Amino acid sequence: MYKTKKKVLVTGCAGFIGFHLCQRLLNSNQYNVYGLDNLNSYYDVKLKKDRLRILNKNKKFNFFKIDITKKTKLKNNFDKCKYDVVIHLAAQAGVRHSIEYPETYVENNIIGFFNILEASKNINLKHLIFASTSSVYGSSNSFPLKETENTDAPLSFYAATKKTNEVLAYSYANIFKLPCTGLRFFTVYGTYGRPDMALFKFTKLILAGKKIDLFNKGEHHRDFTHVDDIVDGIFKLIKRPSRKEIPFDLYNIGSDKPEYLKNFVKLIENNLLKKAKVRYKSLQLGDVVKTHASIAKLKKATGYKPSISVKVGIKKFTDWYLSYYK
Ligand SMILES: NC(=O)c1ccc[n+]([C@@H]2O[C@H](COP(=O)([O-])OP(=O)(O)OC[C@H]3O[C@@H](n4cnc5c(N)ncnc54)[C@H](O)[C@@H]3O)[C@@H](O)[C@H]2O)c1
Repeated sequence: MYKTKKKVLVTGCAGFIGFHLCQRLLNSNQYNVYGLDNLNSYYDVKLKKDRLRILNKNKKFNFFKIDITKKTKLKNNFDKCKYDVVIHLAAQAGVRHSIEYPETYVENNIIGFFNILEASKNINLKHLIFASTSSVYGSSNSFPLKETENTDAPLSFYAATKKTNEVLAYSYANIFKLPCTGLRFFTVYGTYGRPDMALFKFTKLILAGKKIDLFNKGEHHRDFTHVDDIVDGIFKLIKRPSRKEIPFDLYNIGSDKPEYLKNFVKLIENNLLKKAKVRYKSLQLGDVVKTHASIAKLKKATGYKPSISVKVGIKKFTDWYLSYYK
């Protein structure tokens, strides 16, 4: 579909998924790649700066330090750059954090997202892709979870803000014919990962000989999806905006192979050659017991095929962690 090199903006480019996606876009040599981030301090800013340093080594990468909650600055940037595709990943992530700090989720995920929609609507954007989450499925238990499943009962405030994104985008697709695609990511892990997520936290604590908390006594099932597979799914969708009358679509991106949290911990232990000291805890507020993605829709549309097993993916992570933190 795109014959000349299109301009792609990745918001949240210094974040975990944004960083890997920008690398993939740059390596493909098919796009002019732009990145935007406010480098906030939700977690270690050094990690964000290190990711950005790697991206900036490529002379073709263009970075803007912009906060998406600042509407005018964001709009001026969009008006000037006239992107063809925007992949919106910037957000306040984290299910548990949203219980204590809901305001930051309203600001970044709802107002920030509204600003992205507003900035996008008049620049003849060919595709707005945005991150949603598997958390929108709440306690639905007809596994594997299909995109058509009801998502009206999110269990966490984080999930509620992401569900809001899907609804807001639908209305812009209808009113302004803005082609929007929402992606429901299933528990993403990989190198340069997020310090607030299980794999990172467990690795750090096990190495330090400290106790790890296993909520729901480790009986959680998660559809852990390696970041390279997530990025592959996003990459494949770039040239596939919805052709429907209301140009809006939703896709799960997962591995379709849910894993017991307990087994996940075992794999970490095997790689670190160290046993975890475990503190078993009950189910936390806002947490869902199981996630399992149906990836049939994405497979049909793009040929998507996740290729990295948790065994291989965890090994890649622990190898990276040990060399990064020496
Ligand atoms: N990692 C997962 O397992 C997962 C699962 C489901 C959905 N998601 C979603 O995917 C997206 C990327 O997640 P991630 O894991 O890479 O998170 P991340 O926190 O590593 O990346 C988000 C980036 O956005 C930036 N950002 C936040 N607020 C901003 C603002 N107001 N202006 C500009 N930049 C801002 C942050 O500085 C950060 O670098 C998020 O929307 C997240 O909700 C992630």
